[in-house]
Amino acid sequence: MIYLDNAATTLHKPQIVVDAVAEAMQSLGNCGRGAGEQALDAARTIYDTREKTARFFGCTRPDHVVFTPNATVALNIAIGGLFGAGDHVVTTDLEHNSVLRPLYRVREQGGEVTYLPVNDQGDINFEDLERVLQPNTKGIVCLHGSNVVGNVIDIARIGEFTRKHGLYLVVDVSQTAGVFPIDMEKMQIDVLCFTGHKSLYGPQGTGGLCVRAGVEIKPLYVGGTGVHSFDEHQPEDYPTRLEAGTLNGHGLAGLNAAFDFLNQTGLDVIRKKEQKEMQRFLLGIKELSNVTVYGNYIDPRTALVTLNIGEMDAATVSDELAYRYGIATRAGAHCAPRIHRAMGTVEQGAVRFSWSYFNTKQDTEVAIAAIKEIAREA
Ligand code: ALA
Repeated sequence: MIYLDNAATTLHKPQIVVDAVAEAMQSLGNCGRGAGEQALDAARTIYDTREKTARFFGCTRPDHVVFTPNATVALNIAIGGLFGAGDHVVTTDLEHNSVLRPLYRVREQGGEVTYLPVNDQGDINFEDLERVLQPNTKGIVCLHGSNVVGNVIDIARIGEFTRKHGLYLVVDVSQTAGVFPIDMEKMQIDVLCFTGHKSLYGPQGTGGLCVRAGVEIKPLYVGGTGVHSFDEHQPEDYPTRLEAGTLNGHGLAGLNAAFDFLNQTGLDVIRKKEQKEMQRFLLGIKELSNVTVYGNYIDPRTALVTLNIGEMDAATVSDELAYRYGIATRAGAHCAPRIHRAMGTVEQGAVRFSWSYFNTKQDTEVAIAAIKEIAREA
């Protein structure tokens, strides 16, 4: 099986991540819920992971790194905890349902949402930011990299705008963390939401938010925290303010090792390798007249290619790739309905190929040959 569905989750994890999870599963107690060495080990591991996460994303306060099971939960906490009735929030047509659905909820509560449109290459127009600003605009929520077209948004430019107008900036870095350097301070991000299992190469069930000091997010979940047990309310201090219940210590031990892998390997090295395979693929399919490729294909972009072959249903193409050639891709709407509407692919869907650091030249060559053959038969 050739795995080219890394935008959904990276399949190949570094051995140090696998080993760290196995080791944690045999040694860690419950962080903050005991005095034994095992509970203390869990607390140390998790705190160390907070510090590594903070360093990795340029978050000045490790205690403002909050762990969640994934980016969706992080985005629900950030959006639900910052915005509500009477607030106007700006987002883009590129977003995933993990942003769109929490924002539909804000709208149902009496808030307003504006969607920045995209052009035919899937790019937003920065001039639109001034145009959509309202007296009650409270923030911008947007992704860094699109999971459908791979376009990357210049977050620093949005950060300048939000800081100038006193707005919150919430960024979803699910598709770019571990590939592009991300610095919350330099980019002026207020809340950064990430997932561990994609290009960070950590385990599924890990993710979180990095919150800029001074940003007060209302808790979505309340419950056991291991501290202030007689208080009826959730503690106000970060990270417990937004963390209720037992943390995924085993997964976070894996994420901790994943940061070591990324730091040792270097994001530039990782990015160049993935990009090379994406470019090889693009070059290989360029001459196929019945293949439509979506997105801007301008650097910087993430290492994915989304396409269609003639009028063929994308799910059929993806199934053929899997069953005839042993190639894993993702078809359909990729949980991002508005960008599919903009591309005109609501009915057909689209097939997404996405690379990771661990893919080889041979994986790409097999994928090119497969697409050529399916395109010829179409
Ligand atoms: N959001 C993930 C994807 O794009 C699951 O496939």
